[in-house]
Amino acid sequence: MNTNKIALVTGANKGIGKEIARQLGQAGFTVLVGSRDVARGEVAVKELVAEGLDAIGIQLEVTDEASVRAAAERVGAAYGRLDVLINNAAIIPEGDDAVSRIGDGVLREAFETNVLGLVRVTQAFLPLLAEDARIVNLSTSLASFEQVGDPESRMSTVLTLGYNSSKAAVNMVTVMLANELRGTGILVNGADPGNCATDMGGWSAVRTPAQGAAVAVGLATLGADGPTGQVYAEEGRLAW
Ligand SMILES: NC(=O)c1ccc[n+]([C@@H]2O[C@H](COP(=O)([O-])OP(=O)(O)OC[C@H]3O[C@@H](n4cnc5c(N)ncnc54)[C@H](OP(=O)(O)O)[C@@H]3O)[C@@H](O)[C@H]2O)c1
Repeated sequence: MNTNKIALVTGANKGIGKEIARQLGQAGFTVLVGSRDVARGEVAVKELVAEGLDAIGIQLEVTDEASVRAAAERVGAAYGRLDVLINNAAIIPEGDDAVSRIGDGVLREAFETNVLGLVRVTQAFLPLLAEDARIVNLSTSLASFEQVGDPESRMSTVLTLGYNSSKAAVNMVTVMLANELRGTGILVNGADPGNCATDMGGWSAVRTPAQGAAVAVGLATLGADGPTGQVYAEEGRLAW
C-alpha cells in the first residue's frame, strides 16, 4: 500500500509545473504528473523517476470534460484520495492583446483554459480531497489590480487582457473556494511564482522555474494553522 501523500499537478510536463512536481516528489509525495499530451508527460516522468522520485504520468487536458473525469476516476481507483491539487496549467493565448484590439475568440480561449479548465479540474477532484488537503492555484502579478493599476509598474505595460483578466478570475475562484471550504481543514491559496524562465515567461526571465515552484510548494505543504484564500509571492502576501 502506498502511504505517501498524493499530489496532482496539472500541466506538469514542463516549466514551473514540472518543477513543482519535482519539489513535491523530493518532499516525499507520490506525484501525478498531469499532461495533456501523454508522450510529453512521459518524458517528464522519466526524468523525475531517474532522480529517484515517485512520479506517475496522468493524461489531463483541462478543457476536456472526459479527460478530466477519467483522470479523477483513475486517481480515485488507484489511491482513493488526493492530498494536494496544484492547478498550474494555463496559457497566454496566441493573439492575446490590449482591450481595444483583442478578438473575442482569443479572450474566450484564455478563459476556457485558465478559468473554466481550472474550475472543471477542481470540481472533479473535490470529492477525493483528503480532510487536510491543500489546493494551490497558480496566479500572477499580472492579475494584481494594484500592480497593473500602477502606471509606474512594469505590469501596467503588459497588454494581455486574456491572460490578466482570466488570472484575476482565478484569484476570485481561490477566495470563493476557500470560503466554501473554511473550517474543513482544506486550505486554498494562490501562488505567484514571479517571472520565471519558461516557454510562457520568456527565456530571458531571471528567476528559475525552481524558484517559482517553491512558492507553490510552500503553500501545498502549509500546516493546519496556515492561511486560506490568499495569494502569495516569494516576498509574502500579494496585494491584489
Ligand atoms: N513563467 C512565468 O513567468 C509565470 C509568471 C506568473 C505566473 N505563471 C503561471 O505559472 C503556471 C506555469 O507557467 P509556465 O511558465 O510553467 O508555463 P509553460 O511553460 O507554458 O507551461 C504551461 C503548462 O500548462 C500546460 N497546459 C496548457 N494548456 C493546457 C490544457 N488545456 N490542459 C492541460 N495542460 C495545459 C502546458 O502543456 P503543453 O506542454 O501541452 O502546452 C504546460 O505543461 C501558469 O499557471 C502561469 O500562468 C508563470
